[in-house]
Amino acid sequence: MKDQLRQDIYNHAKNWILEAGKHLRDVIDEPLYIDTKSNPNDLVTQMDRETEQFFTKHIKETYPDHRILSEEGFGDDVTSLEGFVWIIDPIDGTMNFVHQKKHFAISIGIYHEGIGQIGLIYNVMEDILYSSIKGQGAYKNNKRLPKLDTNLTLEESILVLNSFWACENSRINETKIQQLIKKVRGTRSYGSAALEFAYVAEGIADGYLSMQLAPWDYAAGVLIMDEVGGITTKADGAPIDILHDSTIFSCNRELHDEITVNYVELKQ
Ligand code: IPD
Ligand code: CA
Ligand code: CA
Ligand code: CA
Repeated sequence: MKDQLRQDIYNHAKNWILEAGKHLRDVIDEPLYIDTKSNPNDLVTQMDRETEQFFTKHIKETYPDHRILSEEGFGDDVTSLEGFVWIIDPIDGTMNFVHQKKHFAISIGIYHEGIGQIGLIYNVMEDILYSSIKGQGAYKNNKRLPKLDTNLTLEESILVLNSFWACENSRINETKIQQLIKKVRGTRSYGSAALEFAYVAEGIADGYLSMQLAPWDYAAGVLIMDEVGGITTKADGAPIDILHDSTIFSCNRELHDEITVNYVELKQ
């Protein structure tokens, strides 16, 4: 793929994400129309839909042959990774958006013929853009992020996970997760998968484990993690398939093997 084309796509995506984020900041105190989706805690607002439509409109006008896989249904029916595919979460952390008015992100991963090229995660209220272009490193705003520290021990690490997975559940052996929680220095849960990836890439947290994410939750995060030398797999260490819902474990390479081998035991 030509560098200039990739740079042009990056420039457009960056401008659109900053513009969409500014609009969300501008309307943050206006009334929200809140619907629920799969369950009473699965929230969606008019701003999730409007933000997604903003991206689909611009992408279709500028790149009519690119396809879009996105959460709220305004994209395409994407079943393969041929050509260019934009994987978009217009608001990641809708519960935070509704309840806290902060700690949410816009997430965009751009793939070409199945290869991740561009990752963008925008922490809207803090105006912080995490970004990557394949092979060119990852950035927090204009500052390049260093490679991850692989000398950390588990005892010195902060693990990001939802406390739900330490309770009795049908997906993962909770006893082993409890042992892992006791072993690490601390745990955190921020309520936005995209930001959780970004924090691990930044090195302010050291690993992120989730038992259920959709492609738009992790498509950008895996690319930004790749650029700082991290590794992202399914929770048990198996390769991810970017078009499908997945368990996820993203971490530096040293801790990754220790955790997947000793602490992750899937129930099915
Ligand atoms: C959710 C957030 C949350 C994660 C959920 C996601 P949404 O995305 O990323 O942190 O635990 O699995 O569905 O619905 O707010 O875009
Ligand atoms: Ca959602
Ligand atoms: Ca999401
Ligand atoms: Ca969302």
